[in-house]
Amino acid sequence: MKIIRHSQHMQSAISALKFKGKSIGFVPTMGCLHAGHASLLKKCRKENDVSVLSIFVNPRQFSPQEDFKRYPRTFKKDENFAKKEKVDIIFHPSVDDMYPLGFLTSVEIRNLSEQLCGRFRPGHFQGVTTVVAKLLNIVSPHVLYLGQKDAQQAMVIQTMVKDLNFPTHVKVLPTIREHDGLALSSRNIYLSPEERVAARVLYQALLAAKNQIRNGEYKPHRIIQKMRSMILAKTSGPVDYIELVDASTLKKLKTLQGNVLIALAVWFGRARLIDNITIRI
Ligand code: PAF
Repeated sequence: MKIIRHSQHMQSAISALKFKGKSIGFVPTMGCLHAGHASLLKKCRKENDVSVLSIFVNPRQFSPQEDFKRYPRTFKKDENFAKKEKVDIIFHPSVDDMYPLGFLTSVEIRNLSEQLCGRFRPGHFQGVTTVVAKLLNIVSPHVLYLGQKDAQQAMVIQTMVKDLNFPTHVKVLPTIREHDGLALSSRNIYLSPEERVAARVLYQALLAAKNQIRNGEYKPHRIIQKMRSMILAKTSGPVDYIELVDASTLKKLKTLQGNVLIALAVWFGRARLIDNITIRI
């Protein structure tokens, strides 16, 4: 396994591999790898000749009051994790390499970026699309692997890839959960043992919503009310949002129809957790 720290070196390595006719799969991450990343890496390994993993904690997707400074950086552990998953190349650039002095560009996918998490994290998705556009130009993968846990991120990136004609196919893989349903996330390490137990209510609330819908409840506000009371029985929050939206536009629904994304973002102590499920009505 190679570790490459400079974007130009990465681009040369990829050119050489492509010249030999190799297919490239890519999993972008901010490190602190867990079983959710493992599932992406396994698929990437299986479907491509070369699997590339990037580890870069991207300052541009954190606002000043967010957790950029304390975001877990566990490179040695991640390196061993990547070896086990048979990653071929880790791309681990510095902030200066990605954003050298004089860097002025940003990529913005309007509309989709302003819904759900975008309302609470202004500028976040602009940071994500800017870094992912750069990573796609550097790694130039045939296939990009993302997780459904970050449903809005996946949609924003898919839209960018389509709108800007990146020659990359995007695959979104299912959320990986703990035995009690909690979605795996690098931010779960911020949870105290008590908060960790309480946080399983998020998936329970999503399943309860699904049940209510299956039993004929199509009024989003009633479903949200029940989810909110289940969640607030386990955390003092705040609840950033619980929303039932159209799964392709992320617009709020007044009555449920078509493909519905049920998404939430809730604080447990220092951890802001997001989760979602989709349901076809
Ligand atoms: O999901 C993440 O880890 C990040 O948002 C990503 C896609 C690697 C961009 O920094």
